Amino acid sequence: MMDREAILDDRQFAMLLAFLNYSWDGYRKVRKGVKKRVVRHMQELGCRNMDHYLARLEADPGLRAECRRQMTVSVSRFFRDLRLWEILEDYVLPELAARQPETVKVWSAGCAGGEEVYSFRILWESFTAKYSTPPRLKMIATDLAPQYLERAKKGIYPNGALRDADAERRSDWFFNVKKDRYIVRPWVKNGIDWRVQDLLTDPPPAEDLDLVFLRNSLLTYYMPDLYEKPLQRVVNALKPSGFLVIGAKEQIPEAARNHLMPYDRYVFRKTAGSEY
Ligand SMILES: C[S@@+](CC[C@H](N)C(=O)[O-])C[C@H]1O[C@@H](n2cnc3c(N)ncnc32)[C@H](O)[C@@H]1O
Repeated sequence: MMDREAILDDRQFAMLLAFLNYSWDGYRKVRKGVKKRVVRHMQELGCRNMDHYLARLEADPGLRAECRRQMTVSVSRFFRDLRLWEILEDYVLPELAARQPETVKVWSAGCAGGEEVYSFRILWESFTAKYSTPPRLKMIATDLAPQYLERAKKGIYPNGALRDADAERRSDWFFNVKKDRYIVRPWVKNGIDWRVQDLLTDPPPAEDLDLVFLRNSLLTYYMPDLYEKPLQRVVNALKPSGFLVIGAKEQIPEAARNHLMPYDRYVFRKTAGSEY
């Protein structure tokens, strides 16, 4: 058994991040778990050092894609950043419903294990309960890593993933199957379109979107010149006046600010008629 630090200390991990154009600041706090997975991948390939590993990745796009999947971080939880969900409930959803479209189209980009997707679904169902004919919700959820989508479809979570969900939400929308196990009620899962999608290379899964969640993925883990084009594609997939939601610690880069008006700390509205 090789010593993990011996083949992947921080300097070598930083070399890998630089090779992929990923952000040290984004990975700094979560690097322990990511390094473990990278070391396992290196060992599977018989690579004893970073130079050898980078040479293999350089030569083989398939290995590079596998490395990128191993580098993903799926930390999430229900109603993460509670204030955001209040803003959505009090301002964004009423506005979307007031526009009275037949269908409201929402995309969770980088959805991890589905916590954000089901949080939105729960919020939407509670909000629209007071309408006699609410708009239909079309919810698309994508991620680079197929294993997270499989986890999301199962909808099983530990207690910690629900720490921001109050008792009422827990009992209304989940079954508590064991002391530390909650399952999303089956009908909450209905109609969600789960797809593998790489934000760096694939087109958005739909056009004319009303709301896109782009939280704690592109803008955290990648360097600006890597996420600039993908961010453009995301913004262009929004309807005029559509909403973009980012993570609490993320910022909209300078180049996108002409196209996105701040609505709240986490929420931006696409400026009408601005192709980016
Ligand atoms: C930290 S989780 C964020 C989950 C959720 N959006 C949230 O904020 O709670 C980041 C997710 O982004 C996904 N991701 C990273 N790079 C991606 C890419 N290029 N394309 C699609 N998904 C990506 C990861 O696989 C991971 O599931």
